[in-house]
Formats: sequence, C-alpha cells, structure tokens
Amino acid sequence: MPKKSVLDFAEMKKKGEKITYLTAYDFPMASFCEKAGIDMILVGDSAAMVVHGLPGTVPMTMDQMIQHSQTVRRGAPNTFIIGDMPFLSYQVSREDAIANAGRFFKEASVDAIKLEGGRRVIKQIEGIVEGGMSVMGHIGLTPQSSGQLGGFKAQGRTADTAMEVIKDALAIEKAGAFALLVEAIPPEVGKIISEMLSIPVLGIGAGMYTDGQVLIIGDMLGYFEAFTPKFVKKYANLAEVITKAFGEYIEDVRTSKFPEEKHCYRMIEGEIDKLEATLKNLPPQ
Ligand code: KIV
Repeated sequence: MPKKSVLDFAEMKKKGEKITYLTAYDFPMASFCEKAGIDMILVGDSAAMVVHGLPGTVPMTMDQMIQHSQTVRRGAPNTFIIGDMPFLSYQVSREDAIANAGRFFKEASVDAIKLEGGRRVIKQIEGIVEGGMSVMGHIGLTPQSSGQLGGFKAQGRTADTAMEVIKDALAIEKAGAFALLVEAIPPEVGKIISEMLSIPVLGIGAGMYTDGQVLIIGDMLGYFEAFTPKFVKKYANLAEVITKAFGEYIEDVRTSKFPEEKHCYRMIEGEIDKLEATLKNLPPQ
C-alpha cells in the first residue's frame, strides 16, 4: 500500500471514510501497525509513561523523541508518521518551534509534527507551516499542561468551556494545520468541531463522530497497567500473555526443561574427540 499523504486524509474526510491512528514508539510495534494497514502513526510523548515509566509527559526531551521517531520510521517506512513535540520544545518561541519541528523532519523523516495547545500556540503553528512542514494541532485535554487543568480531566463539559475548545479548533484550522487531535471532550463537542472544520479531526476520548480515532498502543494492547482511561477499548491483554510466558520460561529453566536438544549447536562430527584428546594432554593446572 502506498504511503498516505495529507491530501489523502482530506479526501477521506470528504468521503466520510474514518481515519485510523495509533501511537508507536519502537520498531516492532511500528512494523505491526504498518502490516495491519493503519493510516497514521503518532510517535507520542506518551512514551514517557508507556515506555519510560514516568508519571507524566513533561520530562520527555527532543533527543528522546527523535530517537523514538527514527526507530518508528525504520519499522514503518510506508506509513504517515507524526512526531510529537515534547514539553518546552515549542512553548518558548516561534523560532524554537520551527527549529525543533525541523529536527523531526531532518533527523527522523516524519511526515508531520503534533503540538498541544489552542490559541496560545498559533504563532508557533503558523511559523512551522510557513517553514513548509505539516502540523497537527491537539486540544481538549492537553497532557503537557494537565497541571493547569487540575489533572487528566475531560474538557468542554459546559457550554462555556465547550465554546473555548471550539474557538481553539477554529484558530488551529485558520493557522494552517492539516489536522486536529481532540482529547477527552464530550461526543457532542467532537461532532460540532468535526462538522465545523474542513480539516480532519481525530479523536481520543472524543466520541464517535470525529473523522478518525487514535488510541495509545499500550492501552489498547493491555500492557500499560498504571491506569486505564474511560475511553480505552482493550483489544488484547498483552500484560497477561507476556507475564505468563515469562513465568513458563522461569519454570522451564529451573526444572531443566529448557533448553532441549533442538535448541543446541552440537560440535562438528569428530571434533569432540579431538578436543578431549587436547584436554587430556594439557599440563597440570
Ligand atoms: O502522546 C500521545 O500519545 C498523545 C495521545 C493523546 C494520542 O498525544
């Protein structure tokens, strides 16, 4: 399958075809995403929690995100990949934002970057787009500023706060983003935004009416165990599968059931006799 482009995603929205989107942080998961035919992959800063065992996304650095993105690109050479701008890689200035976005493209061959925030990051989005790079916005629950939001809480549940989310969505489209991610907002608000915007709107915890859905791979595969948000559907329980496999391995080693003959490299015929003769003639140690 040829790699999809921003034009394909715009076309999918027009035709009402849902866009599929998952996070990945490493080579094997990226290659499974590509094999399964996912439309786009986010190298999310959720790697902080899912891969690095941190309590939130704030500590992730540009260097870490670039390395994850390079690995994902190797695993999924024919999939549209989005690099997630980590905390403080774009908030300080438009110049920082352009330079750091550029690193994702130059060093990791991503197809787009994503950054969090609405009206307060418009000058950064405009700068990156003017630099010739594709941007996905991210509003609603924005994990990098979850402290300001009072935690990982759903947004836009009142008419006034919903209106703020809608204003952010409109501003992001106007700034030139090719797509928007909306997180943890009511389905009614997800529907209004998806209908008002001409760019594709991808949802996570934003209901069933958005133009596509994204899930975090550790949640949907059931191997991230620290917490599971309400919006997650688990498609597998890898934590159970993997822990069971490790348990069986431990038992096999302890009871000498592993390795078996089929796992061994035997010596070439006749060589063991030569070795034993050499050992016999060794001077006393
Ligand atoms: O970093 C991430 O995984 C995200 C999710 C909300 C999709 O931004």
